[in-house]
Amino acid sequence: MATIGAAITGVSGYVPEYVLTNHELEQLVDTNDEWIRTRTGISERRILKGEGLGSAYLGTEAVKELLNKTGTRPEEVDGLICATITPEMFFPSTANLICDNLGIKGAFSFDLAAACSGFLYAIETGSNFIKSGNYKKIVIVGADKMSSIVDYKDRNTCILFGDGAGAVLLEPSEEENIIRDSIIRSDGVGKDLIFIKGGGSAYPPSHETIDLGYHHFFQDGRSVFKYAVTSMADVAIEIMNRNNLIGEDVAYLVPHQANMRIIEATANRMEVGMEKVTVNIQKYGNTTAATIPLCLWEWEDKFKKGDNIILAAFGGGFTWGAVYLKWSY
Ligand SMILES: CC(C)(COP(=O)(O)OP(=O)(O)OC[C@H]1O[C@@H](n2cnc3c(N)ncnc32)[C@H](O)[C@@H]1OP(=O)(O)O)[C@@H](O)C(=O)NCCC(=O)NCCS
Repeated sequence: MATIGAAITGVSGYVPEYVLTNHELEQLVDTNDEWIRTRTGISERRILKGEGLGSAYLGTEAVKELLNKTGTRPEEVDGLICATITPEMFFPSTANLICDNLGIKGAFSFDLAAACSGFLYAIETGSNFIKSGNYKKIVIVGADKMSSIVDYKDRNTCILFGDGAGAVLLEPSEEENIIRDSIIRSDGVGKDLIFIKGGGSAYPPSHETIDLGYHHFFQDGRSVFKYAVTSMADVAIEIMNRNNLIGEDVAYLVPHQANMRIIEATANRMEVGMEKVTVNIQKYGNTTAATIPLCLWEWEDKFKKGDNIILAAFGGGFTWGAVYLKWSY
């Protein structure tokens, strides 16, 4: 009997309308367009406005498009995994809420928190459900409303992040054009370098935690940068080596969009030309779990069946990983 693999059979994305430009940020903090563009590659990012709208709204919009374009009925979905670090609420899970919004009933649903590597972790998790033979259609969505945790008085972080969501459909396939390999890793050394201290069970919300800024995103950018550059390239090269791929064999590198300099350094070490790297950081900034599916969505028309594609990410935790797939359509 042929082994079952998991293939990505559809991609979608959603970004909110409001565009927050570098020039607008100049009004909020001591920064300038030139510094932001040269140090990060970002010119603008999207922000979700509207009372009571959170990551479930972003994810719902992305999954709605995914179901429409793949002709998938809500009742056909067997499971939905939402990668997010900005859940709509503590519980129910954002995945649960997305299912409810779209009439997906009876499917399993849960959130997965692995920061900027969340989408890759969710792909690996969802693929294994498919490979078990018990599930036929699994939706993987990365959704983050980073504007809900960023301090717009902190120039070190507020310039970096945006809101967005992207989703893919995973289905079984006996062909060779499937998700071929993946590596996902973590190391708690990052816990003091990138975190939100408050709002969890250790420091639940109080007037004091708010005054201390515990509910905002903190990052030691320079230290995180060094780990990110090394780890993302290391894992991408490891997955290439163990699948006998060299830079020339790679049709596209789809990297997490945290900083243009990290993307360039990764491509450089993989010996993949920048013309084969998906980059939309200039428009969206870092949307955390959504960066990779948003790139897949925007490049979908360029991918050809059988293309060797490497996904690579690094994020808080630390977490990092790489996925090697052959495009299936
Ligand atoms: C955050 C980041 C863009 C900062 O870039 P950098 O080149 O490391 O810059 P530094 O932190 O060394 O700061 C350089 C100077 O610019 C200043 N600076 C910081 N933010 C600034 C801003 N928005 N505008 C202007 N100046 C700024 C700093 O205060 C520092 O000034 P100093 O030299 O007088 O102290 C970069 O470190 C980064 O991308 N880090 C990794 C992010 C990441 O991958 N996160 C993982 C989660 S996905």
